[in-house]
Amino acid sequence: AGLHTQMLAGKKSSTSESQSTITAHILFGTQTGNSEGLAEDFAATLKAEGVNAVVASLDDVEVSALVEMNYVFLITSTYGEGEMPDNAQLFWDALKAADAPRLEHMHFSVLALGDTAYDGYCEAGKQFDLRFEQLGAKRLAARVDCDVDFEESADGWMASAREELAKHKPEDAGGPIPHSAAAAAKPAKSKWTRKNPFEAPVTVNHLLSGEGSAKEIRHYEFDLSNDGPNYVAGDALNIVPTNDPALVSEWLDYLGVSGDTAVSGKDKSLEELLFSQLEISTPSSEFIKAIAARTDDEHLQHIVDFNDKEAMEAYLWSKDALDIARLHPKARFSVDELIKLFKPLQHRAYSISSSSKMFADSVHLTIASVRYESHGRKHGGVASCFLADRVGNEKSKVFVSPNKSFRVPENNDVPMIMVGPGTGIAPFRAFLQERQAIGAKGYNWLFFGDQHEKTDFIYKDELAKMQSDGILNRLDLAFSRDQAEKIYVQTRMQEHAKDLYAALEEGGHFYVCGDASRMAKDVDRALHKVISEQAGLSSDGAMDYVNLMKKEKRYVRDVY
Ligand code: 2AM
Repeated sequence: AGLHTQMLAGKKSSTSESQSTITAHILFGTQTGNSEGLAEDFAATLKAEGVNAVVASLDDVEVSALVEMNYVFLITSTYGEGEMPDNAQLFWDALKAADAPRLEHMHFSVLALGDTAYDGYCEAGKQFDLRFEQLGAKRLAARVDCDVDFEESADGWMASAREELAKHKPEDAGGPIPHSAAAAAKPAKSKWTRKNPFEAPVTVNHLLSGEGSAKEIRHYEFDLSNDGPNYVAGDALNIVPTNDPALVSEWLDYLGVSGDTAVSGKDKSLEELLFSQLEISTPSSEFIKAIAARTDDEHLQHIVDFNDKEAMEAYLWSKDALDIARLHPKARFSVDELIKLFKPLQHRAYSISSSSKMFADSVHLTIASVRYESHGRKHGGVASCFLADRVGNEKSKVFVSPNKSFRVPENNDVPMIMVGPGTGIAPFRAFLQERQAIGAKGYNWLFFGDQHEKTDFIYKDELAKMQSDGILNRLDLAFSRDQAEKIYVQTRMQEHAKDLYAALEEGGHFYVCGDASRMAKDVDRALHKVISEQAGLSSDGAMDYVNLMKKEKRYVRDVY
């Protein structure tokens, strides 16, 4: 809990000493670092306006500390299908508890980040917004919910939050906040952003998985030497892809128009829009609704009318937007109508698999190419196949998303336990390189697995080298389909429960990367079980133990 909590505790006196400044607490809940970045931006802007702005991660704040905070701005993402991000869970548990403090003194506003492609859109932010209100706090500015392209909505929220906060500024502080000054005082950020990505030459693209594997896992290296972005092991690299030209042609065929067709209100041709601006593979919910409204497909209409998530998931399985359009020939669209049904093409984030301390001029990714055949057509993942098939010797637009909560331990001597099956190994390759580069002597233990040892043991030689170099101290493998019964990473955790618990007791950090829907949940269950058995604790006791690990940032995940 350390520093931040102390900072927060220390703030009270400074607030009460000086009546001429407002203290704003900007609290963030984050899974991948976006909320944290926005919190820092907002703080810098407020500081430039003379507001005493304090930023804190939700896992560094006690709910009881809210009674000393008068202005709270909470920025949070939502994880998975409407869940709290990892660093917000404990704060949320305490806030929703019956004994949470009354917050009548508090003014607040919530910025919620989410993704309309998932159920429970912006749910975490909505829950905080509602709970603060229930506890008597006053809403300073309305909550804003942002989709994946969050910048504009977030800017709007900041503007109205600042405007409302300005009305609370004490008289003697010099009247209203000059907005222009604030606009000029934007914080220094990486110059490579979503809107201004770096063009990185792709210098390596090779297959890691073996012949006969069910997967196609590739290793990529991007050259950053020409003023590219900086990164830290644990960060994500975003790929700004373009669509497959073959798919663009298929859409043009479907529409029966040529690529240079003009689109109302756009300065790009239809072909350019389809190629680089619009999400033409994954159907938006508006697209599906529009199809349903124009056909006599009662099954689809039923799914849409009753908002049946499970049936929708089953319906969308192995179909892209073009499959759906072709399955419903009665639903026809003009160019302008169709364009409005596509969402903007988004970048894709991948966990970086290298350490910049080892590779100063490059960044590496480990990605499974998404490919499947259905409805008589080949389908490919937008960004994974963009990299695998189309970048060639060209450049890819990239930018870095920091993930400050996913880092090697600050203490070089404590154990690092990493669970990363499949491409989940990516950040751990980076972590091992990082610890090697800085000469950290702590014990490093990796759990890795996939379907078959013969074809899926990626980075086998590198891992062997790290073992002989003494940097990877222990490697436990779980190849699920090499024997009759399934063996998973959590099987190995349980087999080695005693050693695992001992490593945790030595202050070990426990990391998980990979599949969120099944693997990460089962690994979490296994961790509780190991602790409960080894420490002789009840399941509640094990939960307290794990919660303490979370609080100490010794249990962190990068799951998707
Ligand atoms: P399976 O496909 O043979 O069931 C990487 O995808 C590896 O994760 C594969 O070996 C896969 O096994 C395994 N896997 C599948 N479900 C899992 C789960 N719930 N927990 C852990 N590993 C799982």
